[in-house]
Amino acid sequence: MIYDCEDGMTGFLRNVWHMVAWCDEIGQDLMSRRVCGQSLLIFRRVDGSAVVMDDRCPHRFAPLSLGNRDGDRVACGYHGLVFDAEGHCVGNPFSPKIPSGAAVRTYPVIEQDSIVWVWMGSAADADQSLIADLPFLRDLPEERLLRGYTRMRANYEYGTDNLMDLSHIEFVHKGSFAGAGVIFAGSHEVIEEGATLHSNWWMPDVAAPGHTTGIYPPNMRTDHWLDMRWNAPATMQLTVGATPLGGPRADGVVVEQAHVLTAETQDTTHYFWATSATFPLADDEATAGFKALFAKAFDEEDKPMIEAAYANLEGADFWDARPVFLGIDAGGTRARRILQKMRRLELQSTPAMSHDAGFGECPPGVGVSPHC
Ligand code: FES
Ligand SMILES: [Fe+2]
Repeated sequence: MIYDCEDGMTGFLRNVWHMVAWCDEIGQDLMSRRVCGQSLLIFRRVDGSAVVMDDRCPHRFAPLSLGNRDGDRVACGYHGLVFDAEGHCVGNPFSPKIPSGAAVRTYPVIEQDSIVWVWMGSAADADQSLIADLPFLRDLPEERLLRGYTRMRANYEYGTDNLMDLSHIEFVHKGSFAGAGVIFAGSHEVIEEGATLHSNWWMPDVAAPGHTTGIYPPNMRTDHWLDMRWNAPATMQLTVGATPLGGPRADGVVVEQAHVLTAETQDTTHYFWATSATFPLADDEATAGFKALFAKAFDEEDKPMIEAAYANLEGADFWDARPVFLGIDAGGTRARRILQKMRRLELQSTPAMSHDAGFGECPPGVGVSPHC
């Protein structure tokens, strides 16, 4: 089931762009990745364009990713039905006749900002302008970018809570980003701007933060900011900035980060992240240290805490568990409310939307399967 709750309190959003991979993760090999509970087959056509389709053969449901490629065609590894990149069955080893219903659903896919985005809902609504922009990923040269991935055993909204409430750096990131009290010297605001949320920290007159190392002297007084922008379902851009005390932001040292969370299942999340660097990355000690810092922060600090908190709920609903609010957590709370509203609207417009309904018999207006 795609929606496990009829009031939209929980479940997946389908009429949004989901990040399924970094562009350089996909190639000629057949790759499988689960998004919103569905196994997807991902590969590049011979001409290099990306294909995303259900990783499930309509005969006995074998993953097509266990099959073989012949040009742009994929032969199922179980009994040999052949499908083209548009999901049509084009070969049956047992008959010249193509069996009825032998088709695989394909999905709209766009590559933008080094990211492969997939639209899991109605193809007619797949509007590229709805992709949240991450311009630094296309504007900066590769040697100024570090990209990563980690898988979390927690629902993606708990990852959003973490990112929209950066007060946790004072506690969780003592061994990496180490806030050293700057959060307590700052002020926080959450701004809602159409479909975009901002969760911003402003910390005036603090010691030069870590990202300015090598540029500002460590004890220099600075104004420091952490601006997080959110768009549904969970595309976030963090701007980490510092400027000499009282100086204009435009003169500051700025690092941009992307944090994109994709629901793998209700209980697991693909966490894609990227950061810019203030120096060219190379095969050297400084780059190794930089990579180790981020791996430690996301893999060894954020991930265990988010997973442990999620496991502690033992499947209970977030709101039913009656979370205490501190104010600084307003960003994640607002994001949850927006997602809830979007799910309700989606349910109203496509009440029968589910994987079971969408696979054999697509509900009206849903999907780009050739049989719909
Ligand atoms: S499961 Fe694919 S051809 Fe039988
Ligand atoms: Fe964190």
